[in-house]
Amino acid sequence: MEQLSFIDNPQPGPIVNVATVPQRSPFRYPGGKTWLVPRIRTWLASRPTPPAEFIEPFAGGAIMSLTVAFERLAQHITMSELDHQVAAVWHTIINGDAAWLAECIAQFNVTPETVAATLDEPAVTLPDLAFQTILKNRVNRGGILAPGAGRIKHGENGKGLLSRWYPQTLKQRIIDIIEVRDRIRFIEDDGLAVMHNYRDRSDAVFFIDPPYTAGGKRAGSRLYTHTDLDHEALFRTAAQLAGDFLMTYDTADELYDLARQYNFDTQLVAMKSTHHAEMTELLIGRDLDWAR
Ligand SMILES: C[S@@+](CC[C@H](N)C(=O)[O-])C[C@H]1O[C@@H](n2cnc3c(N)ncnc32)[C@H](O)[C@@H]1O
Repeated sequence: MEQLSFIDNPQPGPIVNVATVPQRSPFRYPGGKTWLVPRIRTWLASRPTPPAEFIEPFAGGAIMSLTVAFERLAQHITMSELDHQVAAVWHTIINGDAAWLAECIAQFNVTPETVAATLDEPAVTLPDLAFQTILKNRVNRGGILAPGAGRIKHGENGKGLLSRWYPQTLKQRIIDIIEVRDRIRFIEDDGLAVMHNYRDRSDAVFFIDPPYTAGGKRAGSRLYTHTDLDHEALFRTAAQLAGDFLMTYDTADELYDLARQYNFDTQLVAMKSTHHAEMTELLIGRDLDWAR
């Protein structure tokens, strides 16, 4: 998946070079939000005190939760994800034998044969599924884990399956997460249910990056295994949160309508992909003055 960077904001804003944002996640995640990290720092810094709890209900590659943990931007982090493959990785890294996973990655010899043999076998244990997931994420086109995703064929500079396989880097990222994992809770659950469970916590903030399937664009539907989300219910739940929140979405009329209906603030941000395509993303929150 391409990394995105800001070129500008419809209101003037900083230009972000994503190369300056530390990559903390072992995933190369479709729809990953590395480019938004500087904005999250600004959002959290605009508050009088760091939140007691940072909640990421649709965690995916969890770059935001990891950044918040490493930079101590909140006292504690709770992240949830419904995809069992992705959850296996977070269970293993946050609650399990992360060092084993790191070592497996470092020792694995990637060839078309070893990849096929490993991914064709159903995983027996959760750590095995975690390893398969990381491998699949690195050898599938666009990092896509959903059924039907194809493998990288030629990759960058004809390096094929090895183009995105950086075993020592991935090992180090996992080992680094071990240092901060006591501040992170991972839950394999529905993000909406998690938001609901924390809705009375005025000392919590929510970073909400759902799969995007609203507005007829259906961009998220081939990227993830779980894409069926009631976006109206998500807005309704966000309106009930005692804590602050920031949502991020693709732009679509339906989302502007929902934002108006719930009296939320919106802010378009523009980004440039690595292939120089201009794209826009929609931020939604209660008050986005900090983003202007
Ligand atoms: C846009 S991605 C999140 C990307 C993430 N912010 C990152 O930077 O890597 C949306 C994620 O929500 C997950 N998801 C879909 N439906 C869900 C649900 N009901 N509850 C929790 N997670 C869900 C998908 O599996 C996917 O990982």
